[in-house]
Amino acid sequence: MNGFYHLGELSTSTVERLAQRALEFRRGVQPVRFAGRGLGLFFLSPSLRTQASFQRAAAKLGLDLVQLQGGGNGVWQLELADGAVMNGTSVEHVREAAAVLGRFVDVLAIRAFSGGQDLALDLSDPIVNGFRRFAGVPIVNMESALWHPCQALADWTTLDMLGVGRRAKFVLTWANHPKPLPHAVPNSTLAMALQRGMDVVLARPDGYDLHPHAMAEAKRLATESGGRLTVTNDRNAVEGAAVVYAKSWGSLEAWGDLAKEQRMRASLANWCVDGELMRRAGPSARFMHCLPVRRNVVVKDEVLDGPTSVVIDQAENRLHAQTALLERLFLELETQSKARKSSMELEEVRP
Ligand code: CP
Repeated sequence: MNGFYHLGELSTSTVERLAQRALEFRRGVQPVRFAGRGLGLFFLSPSLRTQASFQRAAAKLGLDLVQLQGGGNGVWQLELADGAVMNGTSVEHVREAAAVLGRFVDVLAIRAFSGGQDLALDLSDPIVNGFRRFAGVPIVNMESALWHPCQALADWTTLDMLGVGRRAKFVLTWANHPKPLPHAVPNSTLAMALQRGMDVVLARPDGYDLHPHAMAEAKRLATESGGRLTVTNDRNAVEGAAVVYAKSWGSLEAWGDLAKEQRMRASLANWCVDGELMRRAGPSARFMHCLPVRRNVVVKDEVLDGPTSVVIDQAENRLHAQTALLERLFLELETQSKARKSSMELEEVRP
């Protein structure tokens, strides 16, 4: 593993091993410790769960932590474009920022959401990919414009913890929200469920498709796993679901156009998961959401506070899944260091 950008880049057997290790940590097993190794966390977008769970995981693994916040009085404003003439507001180019941070830590984790204005730019995932190009150390994606792989790994772990069958029905439903949100979570959730081989229903209103790039990746994973994907505009298509996973996202047709987005969703307030929808899903259905969640907009209190909701366990599993991920990354770095050391020793004894 040279970093962690998108869950679907890992083999399914690797994901399975990480999820099993995460569940061992959940049961109280202690991870390997890596004294003297450093982890950098760089947040250019807000976070509660990701921030706290990575900090805690670093402590469990004995890592030195460097944590930086972008924007405002945080780090310098970054320039991303190649060949930029930096006579505007950007103070430092990602080339230097990434390369310097890569000298201070062994693994660097970055959070940078999509800007939501320029779709082509967002599709290039410019910040996380900039760090991947220039840091010289493995990069962990803590949510980029396109993917939220740490959430997907934790969600896989949660499905294993709940004993949800690999062929069970998984409904990813669009939900109402006052703002057009990025696509990283729905892209990763869809891909994760199809990588598991599940019977996936993507329920979204007309105009709220995920990007063809993400759909193509989800279909590739489904072909490999034998998973099945149905796309519908019927919010009631939940019968027999093992999981109803709610998430809101912005329309690609209105990217950067808030007025159009607001017009499009003016009649969509009924896309809110309520007790009736969960009853329609059936007695074994669980409600999932990555959090943070807008109560009584995305999901009604009766569901979030009721027995079908697993959102708090789901959030706890971020800690265990990321501990498993970092343990694996740092074990691989130790193996590489030992191999380099042996090869240098061989060079020294050679006449
Ligand atoms: N689910 C998630 O990533 O939460 P935060 O944005 O609070 O980190």
